[in-house]
This record gives sequence, C-alpha cells and structure tokens, in this order.
Amino acid sequence: MNDLATLRWLIEAGADEAVLDTPLDRFSAPPPAPVPAARPVPRAVVSEIPAPTLAAPQPAAQAVVSAREAAAAAKTLDELKAALAKFEGCALKATATNLVFADGNPAAKVMLVGEAPGADEDRQGKPFVGVSGQLLDRMLAAIGLDRTSVYITNVIPWRPPANRTPSAAELAACLPFVQRHIALAKPQILVLVGGISAKALLDTSEGIMRLRGRWRTYRTPDMDAEIPVLPTYHPAYLLRQPSQKRDSWRDLLSIKQKITNNINNPPSN
Ligand code: URA
Repeated sequence: MNDLATLRWLIEAGADEAVLDTPLDRFSAPPPAPVPAARPVPRAVVSEIPAPTLAAPQPAAQAVVSAREAAAAAKTLDELKAALAKFEGCALKATATNLVFADGNPAAKVMLVGEAPGADEDRQGKPFVGVSGQLLDRMLAAIGLDRTSVYITNVIPWRPPANRTPSAAELAACLPFVQRHIALAKPQILVLVGGISAKALLDTSEGIMRLRGRWRTYRTPDMDAEIPVLPTYHPAYLLRQPSQKRDSWRDLLSIKQKITNNINNPPSN
C-alpha cells in the first residue's frame, strides 16, 4: 500500500484524528512489561475506593425520560442548547469534541435536519461544514437558498466515533431535543436530510428510497400547527451515488415550489 492508500484506509477505519504531534512507531518499541497479576482486594477496602467522578451512564429508558423533561423545560433555543450541553443521557457526548447544535438562521422559513456530525463538524461545532455540507450548500444555492435563509441541525448533536450509524438508544435519547428544537424554531417547511433523520422524526421503518420526494405533515404536541415535511437523500449518499442527484434535483425543485406557495399563502398561525 502506498502512503496515500494507507491514509485513506485509516480514515475509512475512523482513525481521522492525530493523537500526538509526532508519530510513534509502535512496531519498534520494546514489548510492554508483563502486567503483574492483580492482588485480591479485601472487601473492606473496596468500600473505601472513592466513587468515580464521571456521571454514571443512564439506563436507556431513564435517559429518554430525562431528555423529555430537559427539552420540555427549554423555552428558547439558547435554553435548549444549554440543556443539551448539560445532558448526560447520551454516551456520544463523552467521545465528541464539541456539541453541534445548529447553524444558519433560526428565524428561517426552511429548517433542515441531518443525521449526525462528522469529523469536521465535531471540530468546528457546526453542522454540515465538511464535504457533504459543501455539496448541501451547492444544492441549496441551486434553488436560491443559503445559510441566511435556512436553519440546520441534526438528530444527533455529538459525533458518533468513526462516523458509525447512531444506535437506537442514542437516537431515542436525542429525539426529544430535536423535536423541541423544531417546535421552538417554528419553521414553515421541514426537510429531513437522509434516512436516519427521516425515520427518527417520522417514526417509521420505511427506507429513504420510499420516503424521499413525498410531502407529509409533521407535528408534535407542543407545536401550534402541522408543517409540511419532505425527506430527501443525504448529500453523503449523493457523493457515493451521483446518479441519484436527478431525484434530489426533483426534491429541490419541489422545496422551491413549496416556499413560493407558502409566500403566496402564508400559514395562518
Ligand atoms: N452529515 C450530517 O448528517 N450532518 C452533519 O452535520 C454533517 C454530515
């Protein structure tokens, strides 16, 4: 393997962060000294070991309950961001560098919800700033939108290690926050970017191939009115499958049409 191929292989395997400033050749290092067998710890001593200072992970059901309470208590987007920053019910927080809350214009008519931050988003604390974000920006520009005219978030606000798919428990723990995020931002049009976001927010097991391009309505109990929602392909998928851009273009035109209709017939709430 040449150097570039090795680097690609490492990135695909998720090793995309430098741990030290200088490389360490672990193959030339002497083998580690054998670890001495642990001596049994007498019972009385065990109780004297101080409790770990890290917050203990919450069981999945408890995490969902505390997420619902924390999200419902937030009355503004700033409060919601602060509540997420304090939330201990999603293990992804421990491995992420930054909370990725949102980008764009919170007062925009159009809100986009993606999947989860990648390495670039994690570093910058902003959604969709890496290669798929750049494609998303070009797609939005094609229908006259940019980050001043859309508001962007993700269903998961912390980067999953090595960009793995978020687990069902992680999605369930973060869902109350993204639902509240939508209710507080009050967009007039919601776009779900990718299958993970569409399945989580529409509570369906249908795949994105079937979901994309079909408008539905979205509403949670704390929203005043239902809003139109469109699932569409994720730009990362389009980068791998450029032939699907034709369908994405149809979705973009449909979003543009919906915005025009909305301006001509604004919702009454
Ligand atoms: N993919 C997403 O779904 N969201 C991001 O923020 C970046 C990549």
